[in-house]
Amino acid sequence: MKSETNISKKHVADLLIAGRARDPGPGGHGRAPANIALCKYWGKRDEAINLPLTPSLSVALGELGAETVLEPIDAADDIFILNGAEVDMRCEAARRVVEYLDLFRPVGLRLRVDSRSSIPLAAGLASSASGFAALALALDDLFGWRLEHRALSIMARLGSGSACRSLYKGFAEWLAGERTDGMDSYAVPLADEWPAFRIALLEISVAPKEIGSRAAMRRTVATSELYRRWPARVAGDIAAIRAGIANRDLEQVGTTAEGNALAMHATMIDSRPAILYWKPESVAAMEQIWKLRAAGLKVFFTMDAGPNLKLIYEEGQSAEVRRHFPGLREVAPFGF
Ligand code: PMV
Repeated sequence: MKSETNISKKHVADLLIAGRARDPGPGGHGRAPANIALCKYWGKRDEAINLPLTPSLSVALGELGAETVLEPIDAADDIFILNGAEVDMRCEAARRVVEYLDLFRPVGLRLRVDSRSSIPLAAGLASSASGFAALALALDDLFGWRLEHRALSIMARLGSGSACRSLYKGFAEWLAGERTDGMDSYAVPLADEWPAFRIALLEISVAPKEIGSRAAMRRTVATSELYRRWPARVAGDIAAIRAGIANRDLEQVGTTAEGNALAMHATMIDSRPAILYWKPESVAAMEQIWKLRAAGLKVFFTMDAGPNLKLIYEEGQSAEVRRHFPGLREVAPFGF
């Protein structure tokens, strides 16, 4: 299923900023929302440059996201500050950031990276997506490139696949593309605004995951029989979600998004060894949602590579949903 080539991130980075200046200004700033997929990205056709096997469709989380400030420094090493605390440059998160900066900066330029995230980190709540999108925007600002959205989306994708959807407010679709260099694999915004749309984080656990999405995707693509059905499933689901959004049809968007997330988890469960992100409390929450729905409340869920749920409903149901799930972190994607 995969079509790996020898194209590197560095090669794509050079294509993106070909002919542009590499002299930094005094500083750069970028801000990007987190996003949650309603039709999931699961499986890469090229691991080196984060190319997906299928398209996906997401909604941005309004003001929840990341903000990053970059400053050139006269030092031997970069400095990375996350939520006000200096990060050990030997840790995995810092290594990923340094590797990313190296794709775009001139040799020898050291940077102070000051990043703030308003979402819980590394708990399946899309922190890397907003982080890399904000970093891409900050680099664009630092060097004064003024890249177009398409190029910025590709640039963010090199940090983390789903980051390419974090450049826009509201709904966005990541076009899978066909090219081996991935220059046709980027996200585009959907024009639809849906002010009553709500998505809320139901936190089950913030413990670090046992297996990250990259390794889990690789194992699923390599070993799951069910995964062979996934591209066809996505094609149907993404069309249904797009149409549901256009018609402001929550029932259609909600049932399709919920089914799509469950199908993604089914492919993981079908992998060898099996991957199961759910905790008993995740399943209890799903059952509670199905019970509430049977009683007439229009509430749906989606889940990513983690145990937490994201609830989907409309403004009119907000008070009732929050009564059943105290501690819910509600986002109005169009109302900020
Ligand atoms: O971008 P990554 O490598 O963190 O993968 C994200 C995968 C899911 O969150 C499970 C699905 C998605 O489309 O965001």
